[in-house]
Amino acid sequence: MAFDLDQFAETSVPVKYEDLDFDTFGSRPLDAQTLRSLRYMCDVEFHTSCFLRDMLVTPSHREEDAGGFMTMWNREEFWHGEALSMVLARHGIIVDYDEIKAKRVKLGWTGALGPLKQSVLSNLAGTDFVAVHMVWGAANELSAVAAYRQLSAMTDHPALSPLLKRIAQQETRHVAFYTTQARERLLASENAQKIVRMIMSRVWKPVGSGMMDESEVVHVMNHLFAGRATELDKLDTRVQKLPGLEGLTIFRNAFARLGIPA
Ligand SMILES: [Fe+2]
Ligand SMILES: [Fe+2]
Repeated sequence: MAFDLDQFAETSVPVKYEDLDFDTFGSRPLDAQTLRSLRYMCDVEFHTSCFLRDMLVTPSHREEDAGGFMTMWNREEFWHGEALSMVLARHGIIVDYDEIKAKRVKLGWTGALGPLKQSVLSNLAGTDFVAVHMVWGAANELSAVAAYRQLSAMTDHPALSPLLKRIAQQETRHVAFYTTQARERLLASENAQKIVRMIMSRVWKPVGSGMMDESEVVHVMNHLFAGRATELDKLDTRVQKLPGLEGLTIFRNAFARLGIPA
């Protein structure tokens, strides 16, 4: 799926939920497991601005397409967080965006590159850095689509399920942006392919790792993906289709590291 920035700009809107009857959460409240996963997703969506902040000090920011997309993408993720926080509020769980913003310290995705800093980051110049950023983003957005669809199907709830499907729909456009960008960058540079392979296989972790407690990461991944090897393989296949990333199994590996049975 190719990505059209103008079309994205024209159609980027807050995820709609005003037409959904949130009063049904009164008669059909969500279970504790689901609420715990939703809380995680809500925090991750709100934390997206960390990702953006990291971006603004990196070479990706100077790229016109990436820069233009990022601003709108960041708003969409914020609106996802807002919609999820409304669902949580119906269950007495209050997520305060400003509080999250104030708390966060060095939590963006480049934080995950920390262990590699000395050996790799110094060589990670310009376009190669952007390639890593785009592939990392693609993996995150792919898992977001899968996670929202899965929770939507699992809960089969008159208000929650359609909301999660709508969010997933917006996430597919994010996938399109990151994969289109990633493909271009990787095609343009064999060096980028090598670096991306190394970083994705050694340090990529599921979205939310490093910002949420490990126990929460394990909960969500177990809740949504335990025993669903086919789903993980599908995600891996999407990444493997990118130039130079054949054979990578970042999802399988990350889940194995977390001890989640496939
Ligand atoms: Fe999102
Ligand atoms: Fe997204």
